[in-house]
Amino acid sequence: MSYAELYRQAQTDPQAFWAERAREIDWFRFPETILDQDANGAWRWYRGGVLNTCYLALDRHVAAGRGDDVALIYDSPATGQVQRFTFANLLEQVARTAGALKGLGVEKGDRVIIYMPMVPEAVIAMLACARIGAVHSVVFGGFAPPELATRIDDAEPKVLLTASCGIEFDRVIAYKPLVDAGVRQAKHKVSHVVVLQRAQCDAELRPGEHDWSQWLEAASPTDYVPVEATDPLYILYTSGTTGKPKGVVRDNGGHAVALNWSMQAIYGVDAGDVFWAASDVGWVVGHSYIAYGPLIRGCTSILYEGKPVRTPDAGAFWRVIAEHRVKSFFVAPTAYRAVKKEDPDCLLQAKYDISCLKYQFVAGERLDPPTYDWLVAHLPGVPVIDHWWQTETGWPICTNLAGVELLEPRTGSTNVPIPGYDLRILDEEGRELPPGTEGAVVIKGPLPPGSFPTLWRDHARFEEAYWSRYPGFYLTGDGGYRDADGYVFIMGRIDDVINVAGHRLSTGEMEEVVAAHPAVAECAVFGAEDADKGQVPLALVVLKDGANIEAGALQAELVQMVREQIGAIANFKRALVVKRLPKTRSGKILRQILRKMVDGKSYSMPSTIDDPAILDEIAGVLGVASGLRVG
Ligand code: COA
Ligand code: AMP
Repeated sequence: MSYAELYRQAQTDPQAFWAERAREIDWFRFPETILDQDANGAWRWYRGGVLNTCYLALDRHVAAGRGDDVALIYDSPATGQVQRFTFANLLEQVARTAGALKGLGVEKGDRVIIYMPMVPEAVIAMLACARIGAVHSVVFGGFAPPELATRIDDAEPKVLLTASCGIEFDRVIAYKPLVDAGVRQAKHKVSHVVVLQRAQCDAELRPGEHDWSQWLEAASPTDYVPVEATDPLYILYTSGTTGKPKGVVRDNGGHAVALNWSMQAIYGVDAGDVFWAASDVGWVVGHSYIAYGPLIRGCTSILYEGKPVRTPDAGAFWRVIAEHRVKSFFVAPTAYRAVKKEDPDCLLQAKYDISCLKYQFVAGERLDPPTYDWLVAHLPGVPVIDHWWQTETGWPICTNLAGVELLEPRTGSTNVPIPGYDLRILDEEGRELPPGTEGAVVIKGPLPPGSFPTLWRDHARFEEAYWSRYPGFYLTGDGGYRDADGYVFIMGRIDDVINVAGHRLSTGEMEEVVAAHPAVAECAVFGAEDADKGQVPLALVVLKDGANIEAGALQAELVQMVREQIGAIANFKRALVVKRLPKTRSGKILRQILRKMVDGKSYSMPSTIDDPAILDEIAGVLGVASGLRVG
């Protein structure tokens, strides 16, 4: 069937379309209703359906005789290991871990925080939670203790699972001191901490804390628990416009249906194929396409603990693709930019036979044309597919559907909307914009299965942040346009979220940290373009009267504060002192103008600005031509 026909079917009769996709997974009870609205008015898929996500990912493949097939390959240049887990192996370990969690009193609906590096136990823990209906919340290992504490307070977990360390190139990062600080800073008291001791670092355990291997030894395997389609599978926190992250909730039913279908329709893989998403389990890509999607579909998934470069060289990606016969590969453009920088002519690729690679997917940030051209040049015959999605949706919104029909690619576009997403481009007043005109990218409700039905214990924020700006339409937070043939071009965020090396971060949150410095009167943080990371944060800071600190020293202190409060992944390295920030006469900082200046773009001066001269001063500090035009 053609893409156009499939899209039309999903638009014309969504219930029939998604009922058909639902039949492609195994239910203990098929849903009574395909789509309806809950008491809050939120759309819910597959009410009345009963299933278990861990059963779909493991038990059913074993039952179907695929127990000896490889489910997960742990490839870790960081530790020099490659380890293969069959579906039967993985099931055994997951069932035992689930039993161990039950032993700590974890029951259906209880939360478990997983703060771990890229080790198999992280995926095992996720599946173990799913097995017993517990709700996991994975916290990316690069986040600092206050971020962990915020998540502990919001999710209120019974148990926190962690490891003694993570490995960043040749640096060993001890996790236990970070966990201790996070747990101490949180108001909610976690009942149990379990630590996986790794060979690279031994964590000191306090009384009452558990050693992972002893904890498992004492446990017995436990069976899966049937859950409702609408029961939560996990909470994943993501950056919003304020310091408080949003707890995106994923349900079990819609998630399993959408991911199962996406593996074949979008990524062009099926049971037995090898799929690799080089991300981290702490991000949505890791949830959907390292852990759940490939396993539900019966593919082999790769868990890669390493970087694209220096592990041992910039040929690491080619080595993994060749060694494990990867068919479909998904990574953020920033990772390929790192490879391109070290091996511009892609000479290291020649050492490997990557003829197995059929599709190259990229997402997570804008795919810049030079990186796209480089990939096309060095992957002859392999379609390079840019696809766009968000933590909130849980799976892609736009793509080229490798398993349906590959359309002619169009440089700069994220391809076309996936069946089930009714995408529109709106102006300020909510009018639909014609092709070629940039506006807010929104999706008409309902969102398809797999997308979030709410924010954890904050439905009011869900409504306010996503559905109130254009009632009936989901606000993606991205700006962009569509061309006359329906290809979608995503141009960047229109809110205070920035994308640094494929990591989503809140400038509002960084402002809260910077503003807490005793010498800072006020500040504004923006994403400045960066050749390697896509964007990096840049702070403009106004000092308090009488503050006696040298600009370099202030910058060093602010950098340290952001590392300690948010984490090194913020890549916060620059803070510039200015005399004032441009404001409207009513005192609002003109962030949009500053954003354009930081990007080196021209801007027009609104008539409401209180002091036009300040813009020239800031332009001087930024080292950009002021480009001032009176608007
Ligand atoms: N634990 C602890 N620290 C971490 C970390 C982790 N899991 N991940 C990154 N960091 C640290 C880095 O060590 C670095 O610290 P430093 O400032 O002390 O040197 C800092 O955070 C910045 O990291 P990053 O910007 O990620 O650079 P990098 O060189 O470590 O890695 C990439 C570069 C491209 C490999 C990495 O950014 C990447 O994989 N990005 C893609 C993210 C992604 O998958 N997004 C999902 C959409 S596909
Ligand atoms: P996250 O929720 O971390 O997955 O980040 C989602 C955000 O990343 C989106 O809102 C976009 O701003 C950006 N993004 C993801 N994929 C793409 C893409 N292919 N092109 C441009 N931006 C993207």
